[in-house]
Amino acid sequence: MKLWGGRFEKDTDSLVEDFHSSISFDQRLYKHDIQGSIAHAGMLGRIGVLTESEASKIISGLTDILKDIEAGDVQFEVGAEDIHMNIEKLLTERIGDIGKKLHTGRSRNDQVALDFRLFLRAEIDQTKILLIKTIETLLELCDKHLYTWMPGYTHLQKAQPITLSHHLMAYVQMFLRDLGRLNDARKRLNVSPLGSGALAGTTFPLQREEVARELGFDGVTWNSLDGVSDRDFALEFLAGASILMMHLSRMCEELIIWSSGEFSFITIDDAYATGSSIMPQKKNPDVAELVRGKTGRVYGDLMALLTVMKGLPLAYNKDMQEDKECVFDAVDTVQKSLLVMEPMLATMKVNHRVMEEEAKKGFTNATDLADYLAKKNVPFREAHAIVGRLVLECTQRGCALEDLNLVELKKVSPVFEEDLYEAISLETCVDKRNITGGPAAQAVQKAIAVSRQTLNGLK
Ligand code: ARG
Repeated sequence: MKLWGGRFEKDTDSLVEDFHSSISFDQRLYKHDIQGSIAHAGMLGRIGVLTESEASKIISGLTDILKDIEAGDVQFEVGAEDIHMNIEKLLTERIGDIGKKLHTGRSRNDQVALDFRLFLRAEIDQTKILLIKTIETLLELCDKHLYTWMPGYTHLQKAQPITLSHHLMAYVQMFLRDLGRLNDARKRLNVSPLGSGALAGTTFPLQREEVARELGFDGVTWNSLDGVSDRDFALEFLAGASILMMHLSRMCEELIIWSSGEFSFITIDDAYATGSSIMPQKKNPDVAELVRGKTGRVYGDLMALLTVMKGLPLAYNKDMQEDKECVFDAVDTVQKSLLVMEPMLATMKVNHRVMEEEAKKGFTNATDLADYLAKKNVPFREAHAIVGRLVLECTQRGCALEDLNLVELKKVSPVFEEDLYEAISLETCVDKRNITGGPAAQAVQKAIAVSRQTLNGLK
């Protein structure tokens, strides 16, 4: 008979049994379920709802089950529906009727809310470790490439020269915000719903705060309806994970472009690229493409849970069993993506010379030439027009701005002097942008130091 079968006269249809069972996926919560049950049983013993000996029998029974599950010796049953009832059933089979007392003062509704929070808290911590490693690797690359010049782009057209260090620092800022979002989600997640019961709390004098503390929570939930029906913590994780994947995806897009023959800015290490089954010459950036592709899955996970939750009346509804697979999928996808991104970044080869050559092309110093005139009191709008005409001229002649001689330039504007060449050299264009947040080596060094401090604060 089902654990809840008392008021039923008929067995569940076998199709329904399979349809509503969640054990195939929620078995992933076994550790957290047992951890929560041990804390609950210990507390029931302390308040005298169970005798001390009953509580300790339950606790040692649960501890044995945990060991057996980890040893692979436990076969879960679809008929027992979910991980909570599978474990309770095993417990009763092993220690007898005392096992049936474990569920006193508790419902699967507050139990699953607790388990899911415990699970996600651990996974947020794991995700943080992987993200921190990625940020540290990026910061090391930034240390190394302060003088690796490259073109900066807008509209994927060459715009102004920057350095690789400066470019990668943009991603450091994104990932630091992602880390902050994970911390925020963790903070709001970290309260215990246990004691909310099915929806209306319980008549047993449970020590909610003590159990919460024992399980590492900062406090308890303050409304029993909300305690069992809130999945904001999962949504916040999924939202943060989606934004993080978006950042990884943008970075991957750039790695893909940069590793193309047309760009040749970087060479992805052989260990992180793959070949073609027909074209012998191919080396494809599949890893980066897959991370970009998997971003869509994580967005899907977020949309799935938002949609599951949107129409639900308070409090628990079975719809909410659909919360798990999307979170599991997002956790796995984000963690695997970070895990593979970090070494791919650390091992990629940077083709300095190509980057520098390309940084000089495309009139990336045109703004600096206009600024040169503006500094000599030519109104900027006028300077812009003058340089625009020079660019047109150069385009027709197939040369760069610095190839024009002073005589030619003076014809266009008498304020040009010999010092203009220095003012529009690649080095000057970057180095003079020594403004907070700018690409000059000094500015980037400062940003790196501040970012390292921020990272330490977020760890
Ligand atoms: N397997 C269920 C879930 O994941 C556990 C809670 C079930 N509660 C209930 N009253 N049916 O949501």
